[in-house]
Amino acid sequence: MRVLLVGAGGREHAIATSIKASSRDVELYAVMGNRNPGIVRLCSGFLIAKETDLEKVNTYAAKIGAEIAIIGPEAPLGEGIVDLLEENGVRCVAPSRDASQIETDKAWARQFMVNHSIRGVPEFGVFDEKKSALNFIDELGDVAVKPTWLTGGKGVRTMGDQLETLDDAKRYAAKLLEDNKRPVVIEENLKGEEFTIQAFVDGKKIRVSPAVQDHKRAYEGDLGPNTGGMGSYSCPDGLLPFITETDYEEGVSIMRDTVRAMRDEFDRGYRGILYGQFILTSSGVKLIEFNARFGDPEAMNILPLLETDFVEVMEGVVDGNLPDTTYSAMATVCKYVVPKGYPANPKKGTKLTVGDIGSAKLFYASVNEVDGEIYTGTSRSIAVVGIAEDLVEAEQIAERGLSGISGEFDCRHDIGTRDLIKKKVKRMREIRSQKPSS
Ligand code: GLY
Repeated sequence: MRVLLVGAGGREHAIATSIKASSRDVELYAVMGNRNPGIVRLCSGFLIAKETDLEKVNTYAAKIGAEIAIIGPEAPLGEGIVDLLEENGVRCVAPSRDASQIETDKAWARQFMVNHSIRGVPEFGVFDEKKSALNFIDELGDVAVKPTWLTGGKGVRTMGDQLETLDDAKRYAAKLLEDNKRPVVIEENLKGEEFTIQAFVDGKKIRVSPAVQDHKRAYEGDLGPNTGGMGSYSCPDGLLPFITETDYEEGVSIMRDTVRAMRDEFDRGYRGILYGQFILTSSGVKLIEFNARFGDPEAMNILPLLETDFVEVMEGVVDGNLPDTTYSAMATVCKYVVPKGYPANPKKGTKLTVGDIGSAKLFYASVNEVDGEIYTGTSRSIAVVGIAEDLVEAEQIAERGLSGISGEFDCRHDIGTRDLIKKKVKRMREIRSQKPSS
């Protein structure tokens, strides 16, 4: 079978690895924005092109005779890559442009949940003019300001983090409206710990993964600017140290209701990967946002644990016939190496050398291979993943992996450590003991 993978990050290297681990006879091809050496080594052929250049992707898919495609990043979904490939007979493990609005249009996504009475929606408003947006900020008093469009995870600003005062929130909302002439979402500022659940969806059924916690902030101690995600961990029981089985099931139930509502909304329903980013608050589980794809880094936590044949799962997604999925009961810790200065001023073109990384798994991301050497791009460079029976060992394996990479880079050594996790558990205990806000 000929499979086309679109994307060139760590997530896509993990997807490519799972595809090539299939017992099926698969020829893998890729379209990538950068020459990811991990993906290159797994492919029978590849094209370097922007993932959003639909014509190039479509022409390449026809040239290689792709039967099935999997789309890693969100930007091509918003451009309608699935609709175009499917018109040309390539079945896609990803949602149509309409269904992708669950990620690509945050106003649509919130309104969709309200229209279908799906739980987990915070108080919110959508505004396309300044006066009413600023009045709503005053009314809520503590807010998150969200662009409605894709911003690579870097557009949302919340009070207490990137916005110090109510006036900062107003200034940011006003600037977004003025600069972009597109609506913004203003929401109550949710307080708690975040967790991710990822699922395969075949239009009707969903098969969920273990929960993962990502770390968005650039610096240790969860400080500094937001990034695409500096690293993540998961636990052998599929939960996280601060969530209960009931919390996890509430997240799954919100995802299941969303997939059901998608069938009412669109003929094709929702097929592909659905990513729920949740936050556990004093008033229960709320949805921060949905993504229409695997998370990056979160895909690197769950795909190495997937015991079910990945290509059979892909076929199940496109045929509406998803098999059950199982994951091995292991802990994972993923840590990203990023260029110095990331995310604001990433130092591109720095040489990184991979030596002995022990038993860690390694996934290449935004790097380029030139004459056999690896150079940083402008985003996250290389991820290492430790997998073990417990978190302590998984974290040590990830650290051992980092020690085998040389060159100038930044990373967060605290991800998955006992100290940081203890802080999160303590924080969550305090939040749970607070009176629900509503
Ligand atoms: N890790 C967050 C994301 O993939 O959007």
